[in-house]
Amino acid sequence: MRLVISCFFLAKDCAILVHMHLPPYKTKMVEPIRLIPRAERIKELKHAGYNLFFLNSEDVYIDLLTDSGTGAMSENQWAVMMQGDESYAGSSSFRNLQSAVKNILGFPYVIPAHQGRGAEQVFNKIFVKEGMVVPGNAHFDTTRAHIENCGGAPLDCTAKEAYITESNHPFKGNVDLIKLERALKKYKQKVAYVLITITCNQVGGQPVSMANIKAVSKLLKKYKTKLFFDAARFAENAYFIKAREKKYKNQNIRKIVREMMSYADGALMSAKKDAIVNMGGFIALREKEIYRSLSPAAILMEGFLHYGGISGRDMEAIAEGLKEGIEESYLKYRVEQIGYLGDGLDKIGVPVLKPYGGHAIYVDNRKMLSHIPRERFPGQALAVEAYLEGGVRAVEIGSVMEGRDSKTHENKKARMELLRLAVPRRVYSQEHMDYVLKTFEKIMKTKNRIRGLKFSYEAPILRHFSSRFKFV
Ligand code: F0G
Repeated sequence: MRLVISCFFLAKDCAILVHMHLPPYKTKMVEPIRLIPRAERIKELKHAGYNLFFLNSEDVYIDLLTDSGTGAMSENQWAVMMQGDESYAGSSSFRNLQSAVKNILGFPYVIPAHQGRGAEQVFNKIFVKEGMVVPGNAHFDTTRAHIENCGGAPLDCTAKEAYITESNHPFKGNVDLIKLERALKKYKQKVAYVLITITCNQVGGQPVSMANIKAVSKLLKKYKTKLFFDAARFAENAYFIKAREKKYKNQNIRKIVREMMSYADGALMSAKKDAIVNMGGFIALREKEIYRSLSPAAILMEGFLHYGGISGRDMEAIAEGLKEGIEESYLKYRVEQIGYLGDGLDKIGVPVLKPYGGHAIYVDNRKMLSHIPRERFPGQALAVEAYLEGGVRAVEIGSVMEGRDSKTHENKKARMELLRLAVPRRVYSQEHMDYVLKTFEKIMKTKNRIRGLKFSYEAPILRHFSSRFKFV
């Protein structure tokens, strides 16, 4: 009888454990954070012109502004940093980075860069000439800017489901193959290359399926066009393929990553995301000729080919981070933590984009704050309120960020008015997520009193970073 009872308890405990999100790490070093009193938060907000980029980080309690460069490095990453070889040329740390990239992504040639946009600048300088186009699922804003800066035009061939907030499509980051083929036929030699962003940040951190990657690759062979990845969140994408694409259910992440990469000619990487470092990036390539053609620009803009704008210790940390970033237990916890935040918000009635992305939850402000018109920036209003209510910092992705049309100078219409809550890697615990949920629970009670904003100073470009606001 006793045995039966203990088995019963054991089974019950196991059932609880299965539903708990268990981090595969524990804390060895801590960074103090502090919730400053509400009166001080009001003061700091005024001082920042209601632009959260101007807050001092010590005045933020939970910082969900970005998952970029904000992750916690592991003991192994810190350990290998001590072995960084800071030689200008021939650095062993570079070779360690090169072999990690080769082992994990399968590309033999690597050019380090100071971060993702450094890689984009070098790459587009060579690939994009005046009048060319770069089709893709949906480019990140720095990618768009670099393509435009070289005289080219980014061309989004996004799957239509990406913009249907009610759609539960498992791979909203997919490329629309019909739109892509139309572009290939129309622009022919003017297509510089095709870029697939995995996962697709612009549409909510949504993944791209292996089937879609494969189909794009096949199509591009027909049109003799190169395929590259913006691989900032490649590991999260691989995890989603395993979780959502039946055929890959029993595959390990490492194999999935290798298969994904096998369809492309190379990848641009902001290592600040899935390589879990605070700074760094690289270009990974399959062909020697492309490596050779990019090398002079890389030396000119980033530095010699064996360090590219980062130090030896940074390259060591990236090499180690790439390995840790594809560990399934880590990815499972990461995606489940985002899901925990999403489910929690959903439960208290906050309208969130679904399915949840790999690095962030996005609040749909057209529904959340329907009393605030687009011109009064509902996403920014909610960002301000989240800080005011709980010292939580997030970022508007909507009409403020969208900016003005360069010709007509009219405000561009954002497709969605979102607030992004991006979760740094290995930084916050479930208690922190619960605190964010509590903050939104309070906001939900008084949300109809939230006021819209207008500019008190509007910055001429990339206005979300440096404009100032006041309440209407
Ligand atoms: N590509 C993607 C998909 C990104 O999300 C980012 C940065 C970059 C490229 C540029 O990389 O910052 O290292 O120069 N995204 C950050 C974010 C800034 O908050 O989403 P970077």
